[in-house]
Amino acid sequence: MATIKCIGILTSGGDAPGMNAAIRAVTRSAIYAGFEVKGIYRGYRGLITGEIKQFKTENVSNIIQQGGTILKTARCKEFQTPEGRQQAYDTLKREGIDALVVIGGDGSLTGARTFAQEFDYPIIGLPGTIDNDLYGTDLTIGYDTALNTIMEAVDKIRDTASSHERLFFIEVMGRDAGFLALNGAIATGCEAAIIPEISTEIDQLEELVENGFRKSKNSSIVLVAESPTTGGAMQLAERVKNEYPQYDVRVTILGHIQRGGSPSAQDRILASRMGSAAIDALIEGQRNVMIGIRNDEIVYVPFSKAIKFDKPINRELLNTLRRLSI
Ligand code: F6P
Repeated sequence: MATIKCIGILTSGGDAPGMNAAIRAVTRSAIYAGFEVKGIYRGYRGLITGEIKQFKTENVSNIIQQGGTILKTARCKEFQTPEGRQQAYDTLKREGIDALVVIGGDGSLTGARTFAQEFDYPIIGLPGTIDNDLYGTDLTIGYDTALNTIMEAVDKIRDTASSHERLFFIEVMGRDAGFLALNGAIATGCEAAIIPEISTEIDQLEELVENGFRKSKNSSIVLVAESPTTGGAMQLAERVKNEYPQYDVRVTILGHIQRGGSPSAQDRILASRMGSAAIDALIEGQRNVMIGIRNDEIVYVPFSKAIKFDKPINRELLNTLRRLSI
């Protein structure tokens, strides 16, 4: 195995609060261990265009509290082609970068896996996505902050929902994953969460109404995960207007507000631990694994598992929500 002297770092896909804390942790842990560090801009695109800069400890000063990513991010189509990946490999050779740390979600780690296999190149992944949908880790970087953003927004909407005695459908992110919707609903005392994981099992809207929806309440809030399987908040509201016209319905789509903001303490700590663990992993000779956290312990999850396996929703949470919304 070739010796690693210089480590490249990039962020890719949808940004997530805590990515900067992760960049800082990777950079500083690498320098601490005697490596050189290079920051690659705009995700995999920067590997193709050669947008790369040497990073010293000062380059990551004063960023732990900032949302977004100082390295910028992109979803790069060219990297999905063999020609694009060859260009990326040529850039890495030219720049003398011997290993990569990739911070991103499912799509980004899929790209990392393909590249690592094609070129036998060492890559460590960090789970950076607000969706919390990567298998093998209890938490992803950005999820806790997004959950807190949802909580603050829903608390505000509750004021007006209750004044007007309305039914609100609030759409939250989490493409094809109900973690934000389900835990957001528990944290804000919502009536229900409509999530993709159980969309095919039952008609969640029908179940909601049949179970005596709004019984003793004069207003209700339902969180809906944005996904073709749930239909999204707009579609559900339309259904209610047609099928249950007695309800005064409104829709709020929280959108990209969920991706921004200063990271929570939990995300900063998670990103710092994971970033530091990425360097330990490379030193130990680990290749093509994602750093995860399970029961508060750092674990290495092979890319093949992290991206291929579906992370299951904890059914106990569904029961808790049901029980507490009576
Ligand atoms: O994967 C993260 C995520 O925030 C999803 O929840 C959402 O569906 C998607 O990104 C939106 O991405 P964008 O608007 O940046 O293309």
